[in-house]
Amino acid sequence: MPTYIVLLGPPGAGKGTQAEILAANFQLPHISSGDIFRENIKKDTELGKLAQTYMSKGELVPDDVTIAMIRERFSRPDCVRGAILDGFPRNPAQADDVEGMLKGFGGQVNLVPLITAPSDVLILRLAGRWTCRANGHIFHERFNPSKQSRVCDFDGSPLFQRDDDKADTVKHRIEVYQNQTAPLIDYYNKRGILVEINGSAPIEEVAAHLMSALNK
Ligand code: AP5
Repeated sequence: MPTYIVLLGPPGAGKGTQAEILAANFQLPHISSGDIFRENIKKDTELGKLAQTYMSKGELVPDDVTIAMIRERFSRPDCVRGAILDGFPRNPAQADDVEGMLKGFGGQVNLVPLITAPSDVLILRLAGRWTCRANGHIFHERFNPSKQSRVCDFDGSPLFQRDDDKADTVKHRIEVYQNQTAPLIDYYNKRGILVEINGSAPIEEVAAHLMSALNK
């Protein structure tokens, strides 16, 4: 039976960090809608140009564009056994689409960990985040520093700070999360697959809670 996990939570809660750990542990692909958009921006594709206009303002990219992109990703064979979804779905319309799409694989969303942390923690995390250019590995200058300053531990590529991690954009992203994404809490709660995880704890502790929720 394939396993599909949707990581839910506000910007900076630790979805990407935990998705990397889960993907390695369960040998499943980590599908991050934000990373796919950033890859397209780097390659200067039409999708990247369009996405950039929304991402730089902290707004969601329109559903039709996002859903088409994720459907293309799901058409690849590595998704058949399952996947860790990070940043998608992001509103009820996208969640409805995921349900339909996974039915096609004979699958469904099995578990939705909701990773939470207060806004002041989110802002502090995003202000100090450094991301690797080549593969999106995530570091933090205080909480999870790379061994060598501004160089990725895993592939040696340079680390950069995201444009949308500026304080004003972060505040708006948190509002967008509250208005447009938080309704998914009720959506998945009603299906009995939501589990709340305290994201304020250290990375290893959050990972241990997640692993125990998943192993159940
Ligand atoms: P996206 O890239 O998905 O960003 P996000 O959801 O805002 O989440 P983040 O990546 O900022 O945070 P995270 O929770 O992954 O935290 P992380 O692990 O990095 O989306 C960006 C934009 O793309 C959107 O605004 C939108 O425009 C567009 N987009 C994407 N998906 C879309 C969709 N489906 N529909 C429409 N538009 C879409 O951790 C943050 C920092 O904290 C790191 O430095 C990390 O090292 C550190 N850290 C993590 N956990 C801990 C911990 N437990 N203790 C201490 N430090 C920690």
